[in-house]
Amino acid sequence: MSRIAIMAAMQEELRALLALMPDEHKQVLGGREFWLGHLHGHEVVLVLSRIGKVAAATTASLLAARFEPSELLFVGVAGGLGPAVKVGDVVVAEDLLQHDLDASPLFPRHEVPLYGRSRFVSDAGMNRRLAAAVQAVLAEAPRHLGASAVAEFGLGAPTLHRGLIVSGDRFVASGAESAALRAELPDALAVEMEGAAVAQVCHDLSLPCAVMRTVSDRADDSAHVDFNAFIREVASAYSAAVVAAYLG
Ligand code: ADE
Repeated sequence: MSRIAIMAAMQEELRALLALMPDEHKQVLGGREFWLGHLHGHEVVLVLSRIGKVAAATTASLLAARFEPSELLFVGVAGGLGPAVKVGDVVVAEDLLQHDLDASPLFPRHEVPLYGRSRFVSDAGMNRRLAAAVQAVLAEAPRHLGASAVAEFGLGAPTLHRGLIVSGDRFVASGAESAALRAELPDALAVEMEGAAVAQVCHDLSLPCAVMRTVSDRADDSAHVDFNAFIREVASAYSAAVVAAYLG
């Protein structure tokens, strides 16, 4: 049976997924803990991505080389950039770009040298299944989160968005910086710190991948407020429920 790899950006998300595994056992490689076992009847390998592009690319490379998964699903949180992308929404990446990559004038801004491209696409089939799983979970958000979390974070009618996610080695936490990103990359829906690097590794290895991000903040001056509580109470519940629906 083929093995599905799941990378989680946050420890709390990984913990929520591990709680669903009846038989997990750990293998340590490159300082990372890889968790093997079953989730909803599927053979899986789970790992914390670590934070930032290099760390996540190393994790993805080790994961692919040692455990030979048939696909890689990334779950985590992101800052909303698109004007309609609000806290509590979920973004499924169609393509991913490193917003802080700039080898100009040798190569066009954002282009990854020697690849002839700035954007890496995720797998269309996985995205379809992932989007359906997200829709199913968001339609019943209060059941997954509890009414108090819905009220605490003002999560009215959470929405699924599909499109460009941009990644960089920076937590974007000012209105000026997120406005600059919006001006430079008008179709960017959300910003995070790993997805484009993992998508590049998957491209190199012909490994189908998909990235789902729960929007934890608007990448502005209040981006840090309640970040940890949001991950604990909202993002972890969403990613566990979406993974269950995706595998189910
Ligand atoms: N992950 C969650 N929020 C983020 C932000 N504002 N910038 C970068 N990565 C994030």
